[in-house]
Amino acid sequence: MKNINVLNRSISLIGLSAVLAGTVAATFAADKKLVVGFSQVGAESGWRTANTDSIKAEAAKRGIDLRFSDAQQKEENQIKAIRSFIAEGVDVIAFSPVVETGFEPVLQEAKKAGIPVVLSDRAVKVSDPSLYVSFLGSDFIEEGRRAGNAAVKLTDGNIAELVGTVGSAPAIDRKKGFEEVLATHPDMKIIMSQSGDFTRAKGKEVMEAFLKAPNAKDINLLFAHNDDMALGAIQAMEEAGIKPGVDIKIVSIDGVRGAFEAMKEGKLNVTVECNPLLGPQLFDLIEAAAAKKEVPKRVVTQEGVYDQSQAAAELPKRQY
Ligand code: AHR
Repeated sequence: MKNINVLNRSISLIGLSAVLAGTVAATFAADKKLVVGFSQVGAESGWRTANTDSIKAEAAKRGIDLRFSDAQQKEENQIKAIRSFIAEGVDVIAFSPVVETGFEPVLQEAKKAGIPVVLSDRAVKVSDPSLYVSFLGSDFIEEGRRAGNAAVKLTDGNIAELVGTVGSAPAIDRKKGFEEVLATHPDMKIIMSQSGDFTRAKGKEVMEAFLKAPNAKDINLLFAHNDDMALGAIQAMEEAGIKPGVDIKIVSIDGVRGAFEAMKEGKLNVTVECNPLLGPQLFDLIEAAAAKKEVPKRVVTQEGVYDQSQAAAELPKRQY
């Protein structure tokens, strides 16, 4: 797995701060604190915790009145939170949708109230794209492709897949990107696939079930849609006397510190980075939207791919 590329980790929104600075700051600095309602998915993974910390820290740094709500991975909680943000009359609503569908009516209510909405991390499926002003986050299909390309370098055999939250953009898109690569490698097949809901505990539980299946011995590689599920699966493999990263190769997504530790120990083979540190870019967009400035409809974060050979050197530099 040499030659795995590490891309420039800066955000592609190069210069957005510079472009939007000045008038935006002036608009809100004087007498009124900008009030932002943010509805977060939950606290399901190390990635999510880092994402929440980044958002809260940036809001504090900018003196923004952040109304933060944790949806505990339930769409109905998010819809409720967005409705109360509308009732409170916040300046901007931002949220990371648990799943892709079902948000259209509440987004129409926000539009009617004249409150701009910024999507963070995950997308929604809506028939009217004017229901949100901008979407900042990773290209999940590309992450799936990168995981697929890493997998084909590690094995030409059978794959078990730990899927993210059912109906969520990262689960749908990562699967799509991964299967795109597999389509050109007929020797590789997904023989088991189940959701572990992006959590370590469920990742472990589902992996235990995979290992009890009659064809468990055929698994050559595990593709986990995030690192937390991979880390849970590693535990399950070890408890079953299987050497993770050796007997079963593992590719996952996120690039959290725990994944780098596992790679250093030879237990995980590759992690595809998904950058959670979205706070600064998110508030650039939010401040611009509040000032009724034009903002890019889509901002894609640039990320890398890391393998075991890079783990030791990279670990001390990881911020999450
Ligand atoms: O939406 C990003 C995904 O959500 C991350 O990969 C995962 O860890 C999180 O729960």
